[in-house]
Amino acid sequence: MSEFNWTLAYRQADSLPNTIAERTRWIYDRVSAVYPLSTMFFHSRAHRTLLAETGAIDGMQVLEVATGSGEMFRRLIGANSRGATFGLDLSPNMAARTQREARKKHPQSRAHCQAVDVRNLPFRNRSFDLLVCCYLLELLGADDIRLTLREFTRVLRDDGTVSMVLIGQNSPFFNRLYKICGGAVPAFWGRQVDRDVPDLLRSVGLEVVRERVVRQTGYPSRVLIARKVRDEGGLGSRNGRHPAIALAPGS
Ligand SMILES: C[S@@+](CC[C@H](N)C(=O)[O-])C[C@H]1O[C@@H](n2cnc3c(N)ncnc32)[C@H](O)[C@@H]1O
Repeated sequence: MSEFNWTLAYRQADSLPNTIAERTRWIYDRVSAVYPLSTMFFHSRAHRTLLAETGAIDGMQVLEVATGSGEMFRRLIGANSRGATFGLDLSPNMAARTQREARKKHPQSRAHCQAVDVRNLPFRNRSFDLLVCCYLLELLGADDIRLTLREFTRVLRDDGTVSMVLIGQNSPFFNRLYKICGGAVPAFWGRQVDRDVPDLLRSVGLEVVRERVVRQTGYPSRVLIARKVRDEGGLGSRNGRHPAIALAPGS
């Protein structure tokens, strides 16, 4: 944190038409040591709810994308002692922290986390039973949300599950404040996209089967559990071009 480069972190307000991965990596690398506090105050209830709503996962092949500092990843390993749990994050510091803490807490587990960009998953088609994704889509540009969701369906087995947490809608004051924060530092906050996601999931062959909204320290989280119902666009479409999506006005 000694040479905090505000020109990289700061950007004028816009609706994040493109993923700004370089800035996102840069900023999350720098906050990785303190990020567990944010999880403790704002995300842990949603993580618990996601696990409860997903149901039993022991014995599964599980992938968590965008692990952050690894709190959810450790929960997944704990619930999946007979299976294998993989994790990835764009930020090398976040991924390294996730891997280190997982090794400490679950030394015998079959678990591994490394630095990977979610837009290009290095896994074969139909590799996983469950894919977990918390508070990531807010940080991706419109095209990349769709690309990422297609990657999810590609690596999911038939009947596989995507369990997801998004930042939910709240009071107009909260939504406005979020927009201001996201406009000031989009690489860290992104913008609220939860209203668009169920339709986007459907468009790539994922059907929402359960949904909950939980609040923690005034912060709303929308938990979605979706099941793969078809292979949209054909497997192996990972390098294809995807049409732009229009996110709701104000998102
Ligand atoms: C808001 S944090 C959420 C962390 C964690 N999932 C949680 O629930 O607390 C977003 C995380 O997404 C990661 N991320 C952002 N863009 C990514 C990308 N393109 N590929 C993989 N990870 C990404 C960031 O590095 C950061 O750790």
